[in-house]
This record gives sequence, C-alpha cells and structure tokens, in this order.
Amino acid sequence: MADSKIYTASTTAPVNIAVIKYWGKRDTKLNLPTNSSLSVTLSQSDLRTHTSAACSSIFTENRLYLNREPQDVSGARQQACFRELRVLRAALEAADPTLPKLSTYNVHIVSENNFPTAAGLASSAAGFAALVRALADLYCLQNTPTELSRIARQGSGSACRSLFGGYVAWEQGHAADGSDSLAVQVAPASHWPGMRAAILVVSAAKKDVSSTSGMQATVATSGLFRHRAEVVVPARMEAMKAAIQKRNFEAFAELTMADSNQFHAVCLDTLPPIFYLNDVSRAAIRVVEEINRVAGKSIAAYTFDAGPNCVIYYEQENEAAILGVLKPYTSGVSGWGDRRETVHARIPEGFNAA
Ligand code: DP6
Repeated sequence: MADSKIYTASTTAPVNIAVIKYWGKRDTKLNLPTNSSLSVTLSQSDLRTHTSAACSSIFTENRLYLNREPQDVSGARQQACFRELRVLRAALEAADPTLPKLSTYNVHIVSENNFPTAAGLASSAAGFAALVRALADLYCLQNTPTELSRIARQGSGSACRSLFGGYVAWEQGHAADGSDSLAVQVAPASHWPGMRAAILVVSAAKKDVSSTSGMQATVATSGLFRHRAEVVVPARMEAMKAAIQKRNFEAFAELTMADSNQFHAVCLDTLPPIFYLNDVSRAAIRVVEEINRVAGKSIAAYTFDAGPNCVIYYEQENEAAILGVLKPYTSGVSGWGDRRETVHARIPEGFNAA
C-alpha cells in the first residue's frame, strides 16, 4: 500500500556571533572560507530560528516559508542542503529496506525568526542550522554536529557554527571538496558560566550589502584583506582559543574588539567601500571604550557583524555597571522596530531540540 503518511520534525537553532570573523570565500559554491573563524552561540530564548520540516509522498513540490512568507527553494544553497541530507538518508534506506523512502519525498519547511531577518544579526546562520538539524531529525540521521556542519556551511558559511552551543571554531580546511572545512566545539557554555552578551539593536532594517556580495567584493579588491587572512587571523585563532580555555576575559575582549575593527577596516578597504557601522554603532564603541578606561581593564567587548547592531560581551559580575552605562542608549519601546534596546543573552549549553 502506498505510504501517504506525513512525517514531521521540529527544532530550534540559536544565533551565533563571531569573535573572529569569517569574511571571504575561496570557493563560492561550497562556501569555503579564506580564514578560520570562531563564535559564541547565544541563548535560544533570545535569538533563534524555529523550524518544522515535513515530508510525504503526497507533497507535489518542495516548499519553504520564512516568517510566513513563501521563499524560493530553487536556490543553490537550499538545494545543496536538501541534496546532501537526502544522500545521507538514502544510505540509511539502502542499508535497511524496511525504512520508508523519505529520501524520495518532497519536503515542506516552515521557519520563524524571533529577531530581525538579515539585519546583521546572523539570521542566515540560525536559519540554515535549523533547516539542516530539522531535516536531519526528520530523516533520523545519526551524524554528529561536526558532520552536519559540512552541510549547513553550504547553506550559509556561518550556519555551520550554530550547530553547537558554547564556543565554536570553524576550521577553514584545505581540501578542494570542503570535506575538512568543519565546525568544532572549542568549549561548552558551562566552561565559562559567567559569560554574557547584550545586543544593542541599532536598526532592524535589512542590510544594504549582503555578506555574500560584500565578501566577494572584498576578496576581489582589498589588499588589507589578504594580510588579515594570511597573517592576522591564524595567530588570532590560537590566541582566542587560549583566552577561552583560560577564561581570560581581558584577552578575549581585546581580541574580539580588534577583530571586529579589522573586519570593518577591511570593508572600508573594499572598492567601493562597504559601510556597515553607523553613528549609533560608533557611539556604542566609544561607550564601551570608556567603560573599559574607567575600569582600568577590558570588562566589556563590542563586536559588529555585517550591520550596525552591536553585540557586547561581558561577565555577569560586571552586568549592572555595564548595562547601567548603556541604558541611556536604549529605549523602552517593545517590539522589533527601528528602536534601540538591549537584549540579554545567556550562552547556551548545546543544541536543544524543541
Ligand atoms: C560578518 O555566513 O552570512 O557575520 O556564507 O555568504 O552566507 P554566507 O555569509 P554569512 O557571513 C557572515 C559574516 C559575518 C562574520 C561571521 O559570522 O563570522
């Protein structure tokens, strides 16, 4: 009898914010980076994508909805994720012929972000990580997060890091097929229980220059970029891993701020220059620099992705002092709009299936 059952799985994936930035691809199809990167995964309760995946023999096409809007599923990124996950499922089905042939069915995916999409808050990272995790669960795959990171990376580079909680490195790898360009956990969140992040939402508007096109322009035109990828980042990756292992916040903060500043310098060194920061972003930098000057050491670290929103890392013991100083820069209006507000984020332990 034909199998008309609808199979489903749901999951959530958190946003990750890089402290050593990924910027530049050596292979645009496979999203292979020109340098390794390292990020901290934020709490799912604050910034996350919720995704449900379903498949059935009665579905006539693949469908994807993001925040209730239908999306194009014919894109190379989505197709790569679907294809790679189906290959893994087909291998299971070949080994056990009693399994339903889910690898041959169309899928319907429904995703929802609880934060502004494409505003430089790593929405594609959480989005593709959730898509890959939901399909892996739907297909009952037993692959490790590192194995799945190879697939999520093809959706969006930074997505490979959102398959883990805590502190996560994406090792650039050297193989032409990308088989060694994978994410690994450097330390679980429990390693550094006092670590916190505040997000200063400067603007929820969609960014002008997407990460993908921005980094391509940088690779093609920036000389500073080459120096960064070849000389600066390899040393910084090691220093950052050591700072995390030792829970040395000052070293963590100084590396984080230096790397954010160099990433934005590389954007300025691109032709035509890319401006992601705005006046409010620059004010936030000055406030954090002032907090650290008054404290006599780095107790707060700012970082910005491809947008004006500021993420500030700090330790719990300094929360009152830091958020007190930031308060005048925030407004109390609720709902995501063109407002500024801080959102607390804890650092989660790992990937939680919802
Ligand atoms: C500045 O992962 O969004 O946030 O691989 O083209 O999808 P694609 O790019 P994406 O780039 C993220 C860039 C960044 C830095 C980072 O997260 O490491």
